[in-house]
Amino acid sequence: MDDRFNTIAGWVLGGGIVLLGASLITGEYFKAERPETMGYPIAGVVEEGAGEEEAEPPIAAFLQTADAAAGEAVFRKCTACHTINQGGANNIGPNLWGTMGAPLGHVAGYNYSDALRSKGGTWTWEAMSDWLRSPRTFAPGTKMTFAGLSDPQDRANLLAYLNAQGSNLPLPAPPAAETPAEAAAEQADMPGQGDMAEPQPELDPATTPRTPGTVGGPGAPDVSGREGQEKGQ
Ligand code: HEC
Repeated sequence: MDDRFNTIAGWVLGGGIVLLGASLITGEYFKAERPETMGYPIAGVVEEGAGEEEAEPPIAAFLQTADAAAGEAVFRKCTACHTINQGGANNIGPNLWGTMGAPLGHVAGYNYSDALRSKGGTWTWEAMSDWLRSPRTFAPGTKMTFAGLSDPQDRANLLAYLNAQGSNLPLPAPPAAETPAEAAAEQADMPGQGDMAEPQPELDPATTPRTPGTVGGPGAPDVSGREGQEKGQ
C-alpha cells in the first residue's frame, strides 16, 4: 500500500513539475509583446501621422460656416513669419496680401523654395486648405517650417480671413448632399450588409496552392469541422 501511495504521489509531483517547466518555457517562446501600432497596415491606404493625410470631408463643407474673425485669431500662428497688410514687407515668409486666387509663389522679390515654385497652379480654396493642413505634404521640401493645422474648421476660418485680405473669391458651393435614396442604394450595394444569404466566395481546392508541412497540407485528413466528426458516431 505504502509503496503504491509513494509511486502515485511521485507521479503527481513529477507531472506538476513538468507542467510548470513547460509553461515557463512556452511562456518564454510565445511572449506576447504589444506591437507599437495595433492593427495591420493595408497596402494602398495612407496611414495616419508622420504628416500623412487622413480622409476628410471637402473644405467647402466647413467654409459654409467659416468665420473670418475666428480666422484672424488663428492667423496669430502665422505672424511670426508673415505680414498680411497691403504692401507689407516680406518676412521669413512672403507678404500674404491677396494670396487667395493668386498663383503659387506670386510675390515678386521673395525667394521661394524650388518645392513651392515648381508646384504651379493657383491658391484655390482646396489648394490653400491642403497647404495649411500640412505644408510638408503639399510641397515636400518647402521652407515653410510650419507643422500644419489639423482642425478643418480652424483652417476654414483662416481661409475666410485670408480671402478677406485683398482677394474676395466667391465661396465654393457646398458639397452636394446625398439624397436618402442614394444613401439607401449605396447601403444595398455593400456586401455583408443586409442580405446575408449572398453567396460567399469559395476556395477551389484544385487551384488553391497548398503549403507543404502546414496543417491542412497534402496528406492531411479530409475532415472539415463538425460534419466530419459526426460521421464516425
Ligand atoms: C516659421 C515661419 C512660418 C510660419 C509660422 C508660417 N509660414 Fe507661411 N511661409 C513661410 C515660408 C518660409 C514660406 C515660403 C515657402 C517656400 O518658398 O517654400 C511661406 C509661404 C506661405 C504661403 C505661400 C505664399 C505664396 O506667395 O505662394 C502661404 C499662403 C503661407 N505661407 C501661409 C501661412 C499661414 C496661413 C500660416 C499660419 C497658419 C503660415 N504661413 C505660417 C514661413 C512660415
